Amino acid sequence: MNISRRKAIGTAGLAVGAFLAGQFSSASAEKPQEEPVEWKPVKLDAKKVAARAYEIYPEGSCMYAAFTAIATAMAEAAAKVNPALSQALKNFPCQMFKYGHSGLGGQGSLCGAVNGACAIFGLFVHDKAKLDTLTAELCGYYETAELPVFKPKTSKFEPMPASVSGSILCHVSQMKWCEKSGQSPFSDFRSDRCKRLTADVAAKAVEILNRYAESEAAEFKSASTANARCVQCHGKKGTAANVSAKMNCIPCHGEKEDHYN
Ligand code: HEC
Ligand code: HEC
Repeated sequence: MNISRRKAIGTAGLAVGAFLAGQFSSASAEKPQEEPVEWKPVKLDAKKVAARAYEIYPEGSCMYAAFTAIATAMAEAAAKVNPALSQALKNFPCQMFKYGHSGLGGQGSLCGAVNGACAIFGLFVHDKAKLDTLTAELCGYYETAELPVFKPKTSKFEPMPASVSGSILCHVSQMKWCEKSGQSPFSDFRSDRCKRLTADVAAKAVEILNRYAESEAAEFKSASTANARCVQCHGKKGTAANVSAKMNCIPCHGEKEDHYN
């Protein structure tokens, strides 16, 4: 008997091929092929998203509320124009973002509203440089704007004082507001401030994402000029000690006038 090697392999190959074909055809009979999701944002109504963020805040705090308000609004807006995206957002396990409350499980670091809103940017913006630019724009707004500005339909916490956080850190942001308002960080009044702040951050993120949805453009000049000065010397291309940070330096280091002379 003289079965050539090639013939033997050929027969075995056929058997494997038939087996695999069977695997695939039975798998595809059980489960229809999923459509690939095109992560392209749809324009949203920033005011409606803000109101939703305020409303759902009690379910899971700032990060969860910022993310979920935008994700659910996007799922609705995309239902007809991008059904695969709509479905993906509906299935999204938003509860994972509850970890981010009060600056990461109460640590007082990055504000959860900023973190949640930027997670949305991460879903839709896949160019790293553009993603960083949109993130910087939201952070610049957070550091420099007098917040909160959002007004809920009803709230017993009126008048609501507004303050400039100067920092994306939850702890700094909270204490600036507490100083201004005379309220305790453990008060319900402070919680309502953070609910409103979350609404404002979600609205700003929508404004940024709406612009991106139109042109995929990402351009931004830092709103905080004092800080831009620090980064000029201390940033990647600067002349002084390299610092890998873009957040506002001043709450921790002060203005440091002429310290380099
Ligand atoms: C014109 C350039 C320049 C600018 C603008 C600048 N720095 Fe500096 N900085 C320096 C130099 C030079 C040193 C000392 C040498 C080194 O550390 O490389 C320094 C040192 C420091 C240090 C460490 C030593 C110290 O004095 O405490 C800190 C912190 C610092 N800078 C923070 C800041 C902050 C915050 C700002 C913005 C408000 C800022 N710098 C703006 C050039 C600059
Ligand atoms: C949340 C507070 C905080 C922020 C915001 C912050 N820093 Fe710092 N920075 C620190 C701490 C804490 C250290 C380490 C302690 C030290 O060496 O004094 C440090 C160290 C430094 C050093 C080295 C100091 C030395 O003596 O060599 C420089 C330079 C510096 N920071 C610059 C900056 C710049 C520029 C920014 C803004 C882009 C910034 N920092 C933002 C807290 C902060």
